[in-house]
Amino acid sequence: MAAQSDNSTNENSENLSNHTGEGVIIDIGTGDGRFVYRSAAANPHKFYIGIDANAAPLEKISMKATRKPAKGGLPNVLFVQAAIENLPEELTAAADEIHIHFPWGSLLAAVARGDEQALASLRRIAAPECLLEIIIGIDEERDRAEIERLDLPPLSAEYLQKTLPAKYERAGFAVLESGALAPAEWSRLETSWARKLQSGSNRTVVYLVLQAV
Ligand SMILES: C[S@@+](CC[C@H](N)C(=O)[O-])C[C@H]1O[C@@H](n2cnc3c(N)ncnc32)[C@H](O)[C@@H]1O
Repeated sequence: MAAQSDNSTNENSENLSNHTGEGVIIDIGTGDGRFVYRSAAANPHKFYIGIDANAAPLEKISMKATRKPAKGGLPNVLFVQAAIENLPEELTAAADEIHIHFPWGSLLAAVARGDEQALASLRRIAAPECLLEIIIGIDEERDRAEIERLDLPPLSAEYLQKTLPAKYERAGFAVLESGALAPAEWSRLETSWARKLQSGSNRTVVYLVLQAV
């Protein structure tokens, strides 16, 4: 699935450097594409790629992105159906920034356990000095079944500050920052899950910011 153009292909290729001059940003597990669409509208000189294993929630927004600019079309957006386990070869060394916000299912397992193969895929799509931002929201009680199903470790300070960073470092990412986000901070994020989860008072939201080395 792809949504990329506002006009002709020729015009797109002529204009491509205008839209990528400030970098290529990839959002994995993009959900309904809200973060990608909003960010692309606000930053016309960056190029945004939203990736999700499930294409259904992206149908509406990918159609919108292909319209004329006056009707919400954006020339600097592309949506791709793919899983973190199998990211397209075309994305190798493409990303100046990678975002993973509120992952769930196998995406959550991959980034929270630091699975070797998934981290190698992330490193493969990273351009030199690419920034990687991961934001994980877990409610130990409400999400107990999923935590057990995915065999997730407790996201303790020790785990987040030592065990997990060591796995990312082995994969070629250095940790720049890690910590917890207060509800007032994460509810400001422009993603649909950040908005949906606002009322979950027991949810712990942690983040890691890393850089490809
Ligand atoms: C809780 S939603 C978060 C969506 C969005 N990032 C947000 O904050 O609104 C998690 C997303 O991860 C996607 N996902 C789950 N496993 C995945 C995988 N292995 N690879 C890519 N996406 C995956 C799901 O389809 C879902 O859209």
